[in-house]
Amino acid sequence: MTDAVQPFYVLNSRGSSLVLDCRRNAPAILHWGVRLADATTPEMVALLTTRQEAPASIGEEAPVALSPEFGAGFTGSAGIQVHRDGREWGVYTKLDKVSATDSEITLESSCNATHIRVIHRLALDHDSGVLTATTELINEGEDRLWVDRCNAPCIPVPLHYDQILGFEGRWAHEFQLQHVDRFLGTYLRENRAGRTSHDTFPGVVIHTRQTNESIGGAYGLHLGWSGNHRISIEEQSSGRAYAQLGELFYPGELSLEPGESYRSPTLYGARTHDGFSGMSRCFHRYTRTHLTDKRMLGKMKPVHFNTWEAMYFDLSMDALCELADAAASVGVERFVLDDGWFRGRNSDRAGLGDWFVDETKFPDGLTPLIEHVHGRGMEFGIWLEPEMVNPDSDLYRAHPDWVLNADPAPRVLARHQLVLDLTQRAVTDYLFERIDDLLSNNDIAYIKWDMNRDLHQPGGSDGRVAVHRQTLALYELLERVRAAHPKVEIESCSSGGARADYGILAHTDRIWTSDTNDALDRLRVQKGFSFFFPPEFMGAHVGPFECHITGRSLSMATRAGVAIFGDMGIEANLLEMSDADREELAAAVALHKQHRELILGSDLVRLDLHEYESGFGIISPDKQQAMFSYALLESQPNAAPGRFRFRGLDADDSYEVNVIWPLTPKSPSESVLDVLNGATLTGDALMRIGLQLPIMNPESVLILHLRKL
Ligand code: GLA
Repeated sequence: MTDAVQPFYVLNSRGSSLVLDCRRNAPAILHWGVRLADATTPEMVALLTTRQEAPASIGEEAPVALSPEFGAGFTGSAGIQVHRDGREWGVYTKLDKVSATDSEITLESSCNATHIRVIHRLALDHDSGVLTATTELINEGEDRLWVDRCNAPCIPVPLHYDQILGFEGRWAHEFQLQHVDRFLGTYLRENRAGRTSHDTFPGVVIHTRQTNESIGGAYGLHLGWSGNHRISIEEQSSGRAYAQLGELFYPGELSLEPGESYRSPTLYGARTHDGFSGMSRCFHRYTRTHLTDKRMLGKMKPVHFNTWEAMYFDLSMDALCELADAAASVGVERFVLDDGWFRGRNSDRAGLGDWFVDETKFPDGLTPLIEHVHGRGMEFGIWLEPEMVNPDSDLYRAHPDWVLNADPAPRVLARHQLVLDLTQRAVTDYLFERIDDLLSNNDIAYIKWDMNRDLHQPGGSDGRVAVHRQTLALYELLERVRAAHPKVEIESCSSGGARADYGILAHTDRIWTSDTNDALDRLRVQKGFSFFFPPEFMGAHVGPFECHITGRSLSMATRAGVAIFGDMGIEANLLEMSDADREELAAAVALHKQHRELILGSDLVRLDLHEYESGFGIISPDKQQAMFSYALLESQPNAAPGRFRFRGLDADDSYEVNVIWPLTPKSPSESVLDVLNGATLTGDALMRIGLQLPIMNPESVLILHLRKL
């Protein structure tokens, strides 16, 4: 610990180093990469990265500081943009206080031009190497400060990291990979959905042309925030490139009174040299140890049954009890009553906001159903969408002023609903009272907390945009519910995967990845999701034979073979399923349970394969066991397929290999499937020679299990 400012600071994790340059007025990242050798000094890094004055430019270029500064002459995007009625905009800070350990640093700067204090906090997690970084802004002036922007610390990237991997998507098609060549100018993704969004996940990967799943350098960056955000990757003609992630504000959304402060959402970064999968392993390790709530540590994740695609709004006690019996018979451990159970809720047109059990569907309340479910050995869970209200509801009729709006513009409906203004204390008090009453009077183990529309007109009751405050109010409400009912688990759902980020993860325990249960689409969705989240947070359900969203029909072997690799569940009408399908499903559930510890706690390797196939493996941290999945998505071009190269095994050790899914794998002629089971093979052979794949039907999946001998 020291308070006098030094020219350089070095943070280290087990495998990475971050060097901060404090020689100029504002601190900047000089280097972030693999751990430097003990003999490598920051002075050497500084010498090697010495820049010179370019023709036709300013004598001393403004640094790519943690918050690049207008006042220093920076002509790219500034990290902080503030003003006082149009004045005091020229941020130029002076670093005056630093406290640091080997892995954490706090840098405090003040600005005489704008009268703000800026505090940057950066830390490298020792085990995972994940960087966490925030920027705090304090109004030290005597009047109101308008804040247009305050990004998390800026991350410079070397010029040869000229590839961008972003994430795009839509409802039922989230986490799709978007490859872009970096260019001179600004790659900009802005999210104004008011929730994390289906289409603009707050994460990005910057990498070299050589990087693939197993080798090469990457900067993985993620903003832990469930509101609006902005990601920019800029390349300047000066030959400098850098990434900035931060909250996006509407005009006038954020201001600070004297003494007030704002802290940016946390930027999470993983810097790796062993490919995208290596980067994901850092994020997975970090989320496991830092974002998994303590009460969940070591807790088994039960297999779900969810009523949505089985029943929609057509709920009745008899049918629910019959479904619960069927669910228990295939091995389900948690029965989740989805939408449709509360007053007036017979379609998506009415009822949201009236969180009272519907007496017509449940004349004796939920207790008889819950007891029935418990009697079959399952936990009971329930669906809620607290942030929303239908105009056709008692709540809205009583409180039409409780919604976000852009009055006098007409209120825009989405899915026939409006968004409650959580910044009004009366609103969150009402919601807490309803949820608390439900959880206190019923034995409920789990809430699926849904949120089914964007915040199109995000004005609060004071006439100012409320997305920032709404997001914080949501986090606070979730914490209030958690504190009052610590045993209840909460899932973050938002029309599928529109609220998946580390901000919400800090307050919830599971993420509903996507509304599509089409197993082939799911493989792509789950792949994108796996860049930042480990499988234990990934709700993955077996849907009906014909997917309700895509209309595609897929075998039980394929549907179950895909859902096995997440926090598994079933979301199909078991009563309409053939006996053969139910038996196969029960076998898949049993297989998931048998390997649950491995599936939900291991190291992931995604494999670089053709577009027509998909494959990945999970390897236990001690490398004693592994499971690999190979899926043929469509007809393959050659008569016979190629070889499947395993990864991540111990080359010098031997493994027993078995095909464990489907139950009776088939191929048109004798194949490796007939001779493989029980074979002993070295990790070396499995990784270097690989396994000749059998000829498979398109849209089918093969799962292999490996056990070290
Ligand atoms: C959203 C969710 C679905 C389901 C419905 C219920 O679309 O993503 O899983 O719960 O709401 O209305």
